[in-house]
Amino acid sequence: MPWGRRRPQHFTGDGILKVTVVGAGTMGRGIAQVFAQAGNGVVLTDVYPKALETASAEIQKSLAKLHAKGIIAEPPEVVFKRINFTGDLSAGKNSDLFVEAVLERFDVKEALYKQLNELAGENSIIASNTSSISINALSSAIRKPENFLGLHFFNPVPIMKLVEIIKGVRTSPSVVEKSLEFVKQLGKDPVTSEDFPGFISNRILMPLIREAILTLEEGVSSKEDIDKTLRLGMNHPMGPLELADFIGLDVVQDIMKVLYHEFGDSRFMPPVTLRNLVNARRLGRKSGEGFYKY
Ligand code: CAA
Repeated sequence: MPWGRRRPQHFTGDGILKVTVVGAGTMGRGIAQVFAQAGNGVVLTDVYPKALETASAEIQKSLAKLHAKGIIAEPPEVVFKRINFTGDLSAGKNSDLFVEAVLERFDVKEALYKQLNELAGENSIIASNTSSISINALSSAIRKPENFLGLHFFNPVPIMKLVEIIKGVRTSPSVVEKSLEFVKQLGKDPVTSEDFPGFISNRILMPLIREAILTLEEGVSSKEDIDKTLRLGMNHPMGPLELADFIGLDVVQDIMKVLYHEFGDSRFMPPVTLRNLVNARRLGRKSGEGFYKY
């Protein structure tokens, strides 16, 4: 069987065996990893060589941890070898599934889709990991929009069980079915959503984070106690301010802006404190400081 067509023991569907993930940032590398863990041949590609280097190191670390805990049975190096790290997008030609996990900018995604249209076969599925851009809007750049949908993963991808599957108006029901089946084969637990701003997850999460920031701004309590309330009172693994730092404050602000713009509703309006932190490049964990210092 040629590379990328390895059929794992547990694979029962008629589905997807060669996967290309475009964008090797935190989400893209996590997505590539879980596909490799499920036995798929993966092409992980990025225009920045440094992103591929970091992805390679982070995936190896993550696989070693998961193996040590018995979460993955196969030796980490066997899983790792299924991933082809490359700057050459054409290595993904005729993949059964392309997952786009590049910058959250319409123009960047649109330019990439022009290339993916050339590489995709008649039955290839193209999915976006977008957290807030309309799937219907993105589908306008896709040659076969019936084969396009949203597959929204959550950070850290190897740990989080949820995948949101977002249907566009033109997405074919069989592509949704195939994607549901495949997501389950990754060991994930999917939900389906229509293409509304923020889908299910961010429509609910963003007002929670926003209200936590306003609670801080209005001097109701300290950041520690606001977070503790949600952690200990509602059993959330992280408080909303910690979670905002974890997601990245720039990302949180961008998602809120999209929701605010599209719904025209103040419940999504980015708070001033968030704007100030982002402008000061205090972006959360990734920059070493956000609401907290790391
Ligand atoms: N690979 C392998 N193992 C990992 C990992 C990864 N990528 N990331 C974390 N882990 C492991 C840690 O190593 C740790 O293992 P040990 O206990 O053996 O040390 C274990 O997971 C737990 O991690 P921590 O001890 O660091 O801390 P924790 O118990 O708080 O768990 C967490 C970390 C899983 C991130 C947890 O805090 C959590 O679930 N937080 C909420 C995350 C969340 O809500 N994510 C969604 C964000 S929204 C989004 O992604 C989408 C969007 O559109 C904005």
